[in-house]
Amino acid sequence: MRAYKSKVVTPIRLPDREERETNLDRAGYNVFNLDSSDVFVDLLTDSGTGTMSDAQWAALMRGDEAYAGSESFDRLKSAVSDVMGFERVIPAHQGRGAENVLYGALVEDGDYVPNNTHFDTTRAHIANAGAEPVDCPLDGALAGDRDFAGNLDVAKVRDLADEVGAEKIPAVLVTITNNSLAGQPVSVENVREARAVADELDAVLVIDACRFAENAHFVREREAEFEGASVAEVAREQLSYADAIVMSGKKDGLVNIGGFVGLREDADALYERAHERAILFEGFTTYGGMAGRDVAAMAVGLREAVEDSYIRDRVEQVRRLGDLLADRDVPVHRPTGGHAVYVDAAAFLPEIPRAEFPGQALVCELYRGGGVRAVELGSFAFPDSNRPELVRLALPRRTYGADHLEHVAETFESVAERRDAGEISGLEITKEPEMAELRHFSAELRPMNE
Ligand code: F0G
Repeated sequence: MRAYKSKVVTPIRLPDREERETNLDRAGYNVFNLDSSDVFVDLLTDSGTGTMSDAQWAALMRGDEAYAGSESFDRLKSAVSDVMGFERVIPAHQGRGAENVLYGALVEDGDYVPNNTHFDTTRAHIANAGAEPVDCPLDGALAGDRDFAGNLDVAKVRDLADEVGAEKIPAVLVTITNNSLAGQPVSVENVREARAVADELDAVLVIDACRFAENAHFVREREAEFEGASVAEVAREQLSYADAIVMSGKKDGLVNIGGFVGLREDADALYERAHERAILFEGFTTYGGMAGRDVAAMAVGLREAVEDSYIRDRVEQVRRLGDLLADRDVPVHRPTGGHAVYVDAAAFLPEIPRAEFPGQALVCELYRGGGVRAVELGSFAFPDSNRPELVRLALPRRTYGADHLEHVAETFESVAERRDAGEISGLEITKEPEMAELRHFSAELRPMNE
């Protein structure tokens, strides 16, 4: 049950089927090209798309827009210290800004950086700093229904160190929850193991904490040691093992823009390097590319994210969407993760070969069938990879209600009917940008049967 009610609303409208067909055609069968006013239920991402509380809106009004020494920064610092346990805070405009600041200060040419699974921007920033990002997920992570399928395989980190030398591994990363692996959580025990490996290698342990509160909720549900603990307690315990955090406030900071790096009080040399980069790339280190009011809203959001009543409803809502789809025989990964439901598009549309992008075909059908916008995370988004053909339905925080979830489930039913009638076609690319890795943002396609 939602422990809040609405005070501000945004009207949404479901364009009729003919309009949706036209919009899809005009968008080149790429939903990134749709106008949001033409989308009825927008599950493209949970990042920066959530609803702020009245306390956050009130904090906006009190934002201090001073270039240096802003009071809003002091509020952020005390929130990060209270909620996450880090004393030093370097704000950034969003998560990838924080990644640029930290990884540029930490990583050198020729280094290797292991992570349970690198999110795309993390991978890109590590590569940009001259190092090699190495994924170390559990073998067959998504095969069973594991409690902590997002965990880092620490044995793989040790193998990597044997292969390349510990001195080539400046940092060990853990991303909680593991966005690239169906939003699956990481246990506290696993973070303790990661800490031990980092100590063996004399490396810095960094946690990408952007969904730290969702992760903490799973820990208290599934890790025996934390039964009965509050989300706030689990979050602090889990983050206590890290030397640094990178944070996108657009997720569990409950804001529409913002991020930061968190460091320990005694991390002088790293702090100095990161501080310099922050000024160069983000802005002075008491605002970091954000307006003071946005800093103020994030300070409030971080505290709200670990309130039991909020987080329970949040994770339950994602689970409910997963159940509604599974009840209709949609192949979804279960247990569901913290922020999204992941659909196996190859299993849902078995007639469409990988070369014709079954995931993207499903994404287009969801829009055609019900004005629902999802995102493809398979062979269209990741060319030359052997990732599964996943479609992600990410739920914005505190935004949609049960009737919207029903609508999404009914839309899947209508897509299944079209599939069974042989009406769904694969797609081919008609226009591709130069950087293939970024093609799902801007490439255009057309149905094979046209
Ligand atoms: N790390 C993780 C695990 C993320 O999921 C994201 C963003 C970032 C870093 C970068 O943060 O967007 O604030 O610059 N994920 C979004 C998504 C974009 O849709 O999953 P950002």
